[in-house]
Parts: sequence; structure tokens; C-alpha cells
Amino acid sequence: MKKICVITGGGSGMGYATAKLLGEQGYYIIIVGRTVKKLEAAIEELHDMGIEAEAFSCDISDYNSTKLLAKTARERGEVKIVIHAAGLSPQMGDAHKIMEANALGTINVNDAFYEVMREGGCIIDTSSMSAYMTPQFIMPRHGYKYSRTDRNKFMKKMMNRVNLFPKKVRSGVSYAISKSFVIWFARTDAERFGKKGVRVLSVTPGFFETPMGDLEKEEAATYLKYSAIKRMGRPEEIAALFAAAADERMGYLTGTDILCDGGCIASGCNPLKR
Ligand SMILES: NC(=O)c1ccc[n+]([C@@H]2O[C@H](COP(=O)([O-])OP(=O)(O)OC[C@H]3O[C@@H](n4cnc5c(N)ncnc54)[C@H](OP(=O)(O)O)[C@@H]3O)[C@@H](O)[C@H]2O)c1
Repeated sequence: MKKICVITGGGSGMGYATAKLLGEQGYYIIIVGRTVKKLEAAIEELHDMGIEAEAFSCDISDYNSTKLLAKTARERGEVKIVIHAAGLSPQMGDAHKIMEANALGTINVNDAFYEVMREGGCIIDTSSMSAYMTPQFIMPRHGYKYSRTDRNKFMKKMMNRVNLFPKKVRSGVSYAISKSFVIWFARTDAERFGKKGVRVLSVTPGFFETPMGDLEKEEAATYLKYSAIKRMGRPEEIAALFAAAADERMGYLTGTDILCDGGCIASGCNPLKR
């Protein structure tokens, strides 16, 4: 039976770097994204490297499409790893779209793959450093629990909080809340998955050199001067973390977040004091 690794957002950036690494380790790779052309170009390169891979085009904010993705992956073999790297940054959409892609998308991915994963599997959701940097009183934590019972109510609670802020900062606030939710969701989902012998955790990247990171270069520069490592991270560096954390030998690592930011948060830099 083939060992399957599904990578949402696998057509570019961190997801694509991880596809190359885990593909080289013998996994059959399924990369996921909305843009078919991007996926096709990535698949061509993966095939050139001798990696067995296919593309699945879908929007992970749509549950039915995500369920079909999980079903398709299961048909290909045993789904061992899901690297959920798909996401939208504040520059890539309005506040609602960002919440849908990042928060609802994470609920959809974990729920859809819950049905198909077996003992020894691992799901890694991807957060962002803005979940750490943004003042915590902004996060509507009391509303996070509705992600498990009523998605519409959950979205309403999240957007009600976002809409308290002036229009020009709503995308940024939505991003921070959605990524804070990702950490909470992965942490609290570990118990449900643990009963099946599947691990769930989140990885929180700092500033990385990817198409998304390129849009944040100016902002990155204001923080990187305080970081222990004064440069942006490279996609291969986060790919190595994804691969290591997903490795079955890491069988006791679950229900936690791993921050990989070159020591940026450790520096104590504060966006309110920029
Ligand atoms: N780069 C950074 O500095 C940084 C920092 C902190 C956190 N992160 C997080 O790290 C993850 C990976 O980002 P990256 O830097 O590798 O950026 P990226 O190159 O823009 O990759 C994100 C990928 O997600 C896909 N995607 C977006 N929305 C989607 C949706 N609704 N359904 C399916 N696919 C979707 C995009 O493809 P399509 O547009 O074709 O769908 C894209 O290939 C993201 O979750 C991001 O929030 C990045």
C-alpha cells in the first residue's frame, strides 16, 4: 500500500518545499490548491525529480471539496501525513475570505481527514507568528468552541470581533484571529485524534521567503533586526521541521504548537511599540 502525504498549499512556498522533501523520502504526494496552473507546474517539477505526485485542485474553505480530497487520498493508499499549509495572508484577501481560508479551512481539513486516517498518522496545521504578536485580548476565544458544533455560528462570532475594528486593519485582525484559532484547534483536536492513534499539532512559522513572505518583506525588516537570526527563513528550513514533526518516530509529539521564527518572538519585539 502506498504511503500518502497530502499537502494543502503544496503548489508553492513552504508546502511545495515540503512536497519535494517528503517525496524524496518515498511518500506519494498529493498537492492541493485552487490554481490549477500552479499545481501543474509544481507536479511537472516533482515528476522531473522522480517523485510520484498528483495535483488535486480544491478550495479548502469548502467542506464538500475537502471531503472529496480526503476520499481521493484514501483511495490512493494509506494517508500517513497531512501537511495543511494552505492559507491567505492579510494582503491576499478581505477579512472574510481570510477567515474562511485559514480558520474554516483548518476545521474542514482536520474533520475530513479524521475519517480516513489510521494509527501512526499525523496532521500538521500551520499558524503564524501574528497569533503570538497580536495582543491576546483581541482573540474571541470564547467563540472557538463553536467550530465543533456550528460552523455558521463560529464564523459569525469570529467576524463580529473582526468587524469591531476599522476597515483598513480588518484583514490583519482576521489573519491574527484565524491563526490563533489554528493553534487552539490543533491543540484541542489532539485528544479526538489520539483515540485513533493519530497525532495533530501546529507549526508556527516566522517570516519566510515564499510568495506570501515576499509580500511581507517590509514588515519583516522591522522585526528581523531584533531576532536571534537576522534573516527570513528559507522554505527548506520549515519543510525540514514539517517532515521531522510528522515522522512516526516522533510518536509522542501531539497537541502542541512549534514556533519556528529565528528567535523573533523570543526577542520580545512588540508590534504596538514599532
Ligand atoms: N511566508 C511567511 O512568512 C509565513 C509566515 C507565517 C505563516 N505563514 C503560513 O504558512 C503557510 C504557507 O504559506 P507560504 O508562505 O508557503 O505561502 P504561499 O506560497 O502563498 O502558499 C500558500 C498556498 O496556499 C494555497 N491556498 C490559499 N488559499 C487556499 C484555499 N482556500 N484552498 C486551497 N489552497 C489555498 C495557495 O494556492 P492557491 O492560491 O492556488 O489556492 C498557495 O499555494 C500559510 O498558511 C501561511 O499563512 C507564512
